[in-house]
Parts: sequence; structure tokens; C-alpha cells
Amino acid sequence: MPDNDKFKEGKECYTDIPQETEGFFLKGSNSLDWGMKNRLGRIFNPESGKTVMLAIDHGYFQGPTSGLERVDINILPLVPYADTLMLTRGILRSIIPPSISQSIVLRVSGGSSILKELSNEKIAVDIEDSIRLNACAMAVQVFVGGEYERQSIINMTRMVDMGNRYGIPTLAVTAVGKDMQRDARYFRLATRICAELGAHYIKSYYVEDGFDTVTASCPVPIVMAGGKKIPEFDALTMAYKAIQEGAAGVDMGRNIFQSDAPVAMIQAVNAVVHKNETPEKAYELFQTLKNEC
Ligand code: R5P
Repeated sequence: MPDNDKFKEGKECYTDIPQETEGFFLKGSNSLDWGMKNRLGRIFNPESGKTVMLAIDHGYFQGPTSGLERVDINILPLVPYADTLMLTRGILRSIIPPSISQSIVLRVSGGSSILKELSNEKIAVDIEDSIRLNACAMAVQVFVGGEYERQSIINMTRMVDMGNRYGIPTLAVTAVGKDMQRDARYFRLATRICAELGAHYIKSYYVEDGFDTVTASCPVPIVMAGGKKIPEFDALTMAYKAIQEGAAGVDMGRNIFQSDAPVAMIQAVNAVVHKNETPEKAYELFQTLKNEC
């Protein structure tokens, strides 16, 4: 208890200055609670409003993917250039040093391998473990149009409910089946379903024709998925176009860690995302950094 004699009543209440209420920089996120916003603000850089997520969770269904055989050797050098790591709890606990400052997006759905039907996933991580691991978001695969569409959507809504309880956002990852059309119409459908059902942000592939309609009709941020490895200049062009057409960042894996020079590539991607660098300039940066390696 403060000593009564020395207690001075505070008088400077600045009655003429209304308290400012800060809006939140992320699309569709202003009504979220403080913890959610704080976690999203660790994924998305509040200055640029964007994120570079480094996706290294591929092993959860396809084992030691090329470039990810030794996460300790090949991926740790990339970490300083990412805003966020998207990965499984297995790799997080076994390899990633807890001293990193990057935020963690934890893969929480799983249960199928490339040998079986991929859409047959369940929630594979308890919310308690996401809390224990200080995750800033939980990633769930959603297979709109897939064989287990309903199950995967319900996985996502269950995570949204649990995450809302504890202030942890859910990232819905739209997964496209082998024989499904990858066009703007499909991604408008898939991303909007995820947003309507409560996902806090959504991962979508880029499409040449009409990606801006995907980002515009989705009320929460969209991050662009990388997809299979393509030449570096093309990957930088794709990222650039996605950002210019409304994406709030990228969630890229193979186009970074399967590059000839992954450390150079992630820095070039970072320049496109956070500095609006053109693909030409970013590719120049890539080559310069590659030659320095
Ligand atoms: C999506 O299916 C998983 O999260 C992937 O492991 C990851 O997102 C794929 O990243 P990328 O396609 O850029 O290699």
C-alpha cells in the first residue's frame, strides 16, 4: 500500500486531449482482441503491413523434401531474413533455437502422407501445445472441392474456435487437389469460405488472371503460396505481382530453399514484399548477393 501522507492526487488528466484509439493495420482485423492483434503484428510487419513467411512444413506429409533434408544446415541461415517460420512442432522443437525473434506459425493439421488421399486430415496438435510453443498462428489445410472437404473445413473451424479462446489466429491454407482448376474463381470461392468461417488470414496460390479479385473479395489478409520451384526471376515476378494485386505477403518454401542461392533468394523476396522492389531490381539483388556467397 502507498504511504497515505506522501500520496499526491494526480491532476494532470489532459481533459482537453481525447485518448487516441489506434486502428489496426491489417485488413479485417480491427475487431480482434489484443492478443490476436499482437500475434498478427508479429507475423505481419506493422511498418510495411506485409510478411515474408518461410514455409518449411513440407515434411509433415512428404518426408525429407529436397532442400529440407537438413533443416539445421540449410534452413537456419535463412531465418534472419524471414518474418515468420511456418513449420511443424517436430522440427521446431528438435532444430530451431528458442532464442530466435521470428514468429512461429505452427502446422496443426495432418494425418495423411503422399501415399494416400491428402485431404483426409485431422487436427494433429492440441491447442495447449500451440500455446506452449508460443505460436503466433496455427495453420490448417483446407481442401475446398477435395474428397474430405467437409472434414478439412471443420478442422479449420475447430481451430478458429479454440484459437479465439486463447487469442491465437488461424491461418487457412487453401490446398488445390491434383485435378482441380487453379483459377481466380476457385480461389475466390476457397478463400472466401475460409474467411466467412473465421480464418484470420488465408494462404492462396497466385493466378495470372484475376488475382486482384481474390484479394479484393476476401475480407482478411491473403498471403501468396510459393508452389513448385520455378526460375528465380519468375518467382520474384510472381511475388511482385501478388503484392501489387493485394496480397499481404508471401508464404514461400521451395522457391526459396530449393534456389541455387537460398540466402540471396530470401533477401530478394524480402525486398519485393517489404520495399515494393521490382522483379528486375530484386533479381539484380539476388545475383549480387549470390556472387558474394
Ligand atoms: C502446403 O501445402 C504446405 O504448407 C506446404 O508445405 C508449403 O506451404 C508449401 O510451400 P511452397 O509451395 O512454397 O513450397
